[in-house]
Amino acid sequence: QTELIHTFNGIPFSTRVSKELLQSLDTFEAREDDVLLVSYPKSGTHWLTEIMKNLYHSHSEANGVSKVTLTSPLEFGDLSRFDELRNLPNKRLIPTHLNYEMIPVQFKTKKCKMIYVIRNPKDTAVSLYHYYKQNPNLPKIEKWSTFLEMFLKGEVVCGSWIDHVLSWEKSKNDENVLVLYYESLKEDLPKHVKEISTFLGINVTEDQVKDISKKSSFSEMKEKAEKEKVNPNHTVCVLTSNKKLIFRKGTVGDWKNHFTSKQNAKFDELFKEKINSSELARRVKY
Ligand code: PPS
Repeated sequence: QTELIHTFNGIPFSTRVSKELLQSLDTFEAREDDVLLVSYPKSGTHWLTEIMKNLYHSHSEANGVSKVTLTSPLEFGDLSRFDELRNLPNKRLIPTHLNYEMIPVQFKTKKCKMIYVIRNPKDTAVSLYHYYKQNPNLPKIEKWSTFLEMFLKGEVVCGSWIDHVLSWEKSKNDENVLVLYYESLKEDLPKHVKEISTFLGINVTEDQVKDISKKSSFSEMKEKAEKEKVNPNHTVCVLTSNKKLIFRKGTVGDWKNHFTSKQNAKFDELFKEKINSSELARRVKY
């Protein structure tokens, strides 16, 4: 099963992300109006793309502005991906799981808008564990305890959760960067729909905020995914085009059903120092 994973700069990636592409990231030509949606895997990428798609949809309906395309992840596939993105006439909304260092330099110099979504690492680990169990594009994992050890060592796709968050630490006060938390979205979605619309410069009415919050609820998104046909060219996640694998529980605190108290203590002990050193990680709720 090693053919499913390769390592680049010490970070495990799916082989659906080519080494050639990873080596060429800094040649990517960003446009000033690109919007990047960034997250460590299983942190709410699909959720955010749904919110943003709906926001842009209501915006263009009202103002007749240029069309927005939600693209496949920046790092999906081989180098021809960059040509595909270059040839896209529409405004690009691009998802990615890359850490800050790996983000193509032009996104930074052109001050493109970037949204970074963080989810508490315990629920993220649980969500990724179930993904490993179900997704044929990931190595087979039998036991939760085995997976947790891998997660703690950063030996899972996209590497260590805390290193990913730490890499984004330096950008947290940049005007073009908005940091969001999965748990906070769960707590008050309409508030964050408004926050995202302000960040993107989109005017929405209270009714539109309500409507977007409803359309991007877990139940509506899951129901839609159940009915949708799988389109291999259409994916928000490098690891699958099958949205049925994405909507599992969508809750906060499922980690309590998986972690033993010993595993929890080990997790806290191992992550404590780095979490304390990161303002972004300290703000995470469990
Ligand atoms: S991926 O594969 O990395 O792109 O996955 P990602 O979309 O980042 O994360 C998948 C988890 O997000 C949950 N999810 C949601 N939660 C709440 N509300 C909504 N609308 C929503 N949409 C997706 C999804 O269920 C996965 O979490 P778990 O805990 O596995 O259910």
